Amino acid sequence: MAKLGFYMEKKVMYSAVQPSGNLTIGNYSGAIRNWIAMQEEYDCFYAIADLHAITVRQEPAELRRHTLELAATYLACGLDPERCALYVQSHVPQHAELCWVLNTVTYVGEASRMTQFKDKSQKHADNVNMGLMDYPVLMAADILLYLADYVPVGADQKQHVELARDIAIRFNNRYGETFRVPEPLIKKDGASIRSLQDPARKMSKSDENPNAAVFLTDDRETILRKFKRAVTDSDNSIRAAEDKPGVTNLLNIYAAFAGGTVEEAERAFEGKGYGEFKLAVGETVADALAPIQAERKRLLADKGYLTQMLQGGAERAFKVARRTLSKVYRKVGFFQGD
Ligand code: TRP
Repeated sequence: MAKLGFYMEKKVMYSAVQPSGNLTIGNYSGAIRNWIAMQEEYDCFYAIADLHAITVRQEPAELRRHTLELAATYLACGLDPERCALYVQSHVPQHAELCWVLNTVTYVGEASRMTQFKDKSQKHADNVNMGLMDYPVLMAADILLYLADYVPVGADQKQHVELARDIAIRFNNRYGETFRVPEPLIKKDGASIRSLQDPARKMSKSDENPNAAVFLTDDRETILRKFKRAVTDSDNSIRAAEDKPGVTNLLNIYAAFAGGTVEEAERAFEGKGYGEFKLAVGETVADALAPIQAERKRLLADKGYLTQMLQGGAERAFKVARRTLSKVYRKVGFFQGD
């Protein structure tokens, strides 16, 4: 362990992401950059949630590949494995073990009322498995194992973090003070990057329109083409305004990738045409992504290093998770020897 007192000196941050395919520049400027900024100030645990991923059908070889790719992407974006624990959820057995105990203080009614469970049950009507309903309880186990203070998530996960809070409070009431009650940290939706084809919608990796999202793995030519096709409006002035969602989105993207504010971006493009503007946004994004893509490729060619790094992260997480689970087992009355 590189650092003494890695745990408990600072506030604890916990988040996780499912290894499900390509990340977009929206994921990058929202979640990933956030995670990276937070590693300075907090003790961070970041998991690749493979246990969660299998609640919908996965191709095993793909799941394995996505897991490694996600780890490489995070490192390439600047996550520092010396400063945070980046690990694969299934490498730390306490997640599943704590989930079992938490299941006994979670009501079926609560779990079945979760919006995401209802949505996913509809979307995967042929596969409404127990894991799908248990998904938020496993999430609670993730968070509570590390006594997390804060959980940065998208707005769609807020309800799950609230359930984790309820479960923590209920367990503490029943068995005595055990868990810290976590706070969700929700990014304002207005700050999020929108679809290039329909700025009313969030940029999504699963959009049917191939020009709607820019992926972290897109090459320069593809990036420039997607920005060239981005929707704007007929007013031809480059400023952020509610009735100019396309242009506003492009200004936000430019500001996020060039560094600086939207106002600065507006000034930089004053009097310019949309064609020139869209090209400049595309070039800025492509330039920013180039070093990340090169580093990601280099890392993916070194599976030995990635494996070792993930093992290190899991060991770090394991030490904390084991302590919490052992306390939980004691509290609920499991005999653990004298
Ligand atoms: N469900 C989260 C998502 O899809 C991922 C996740 C799993 C998570 N466990 C977590 C997020 C714990 C925060 C904390 O985005």
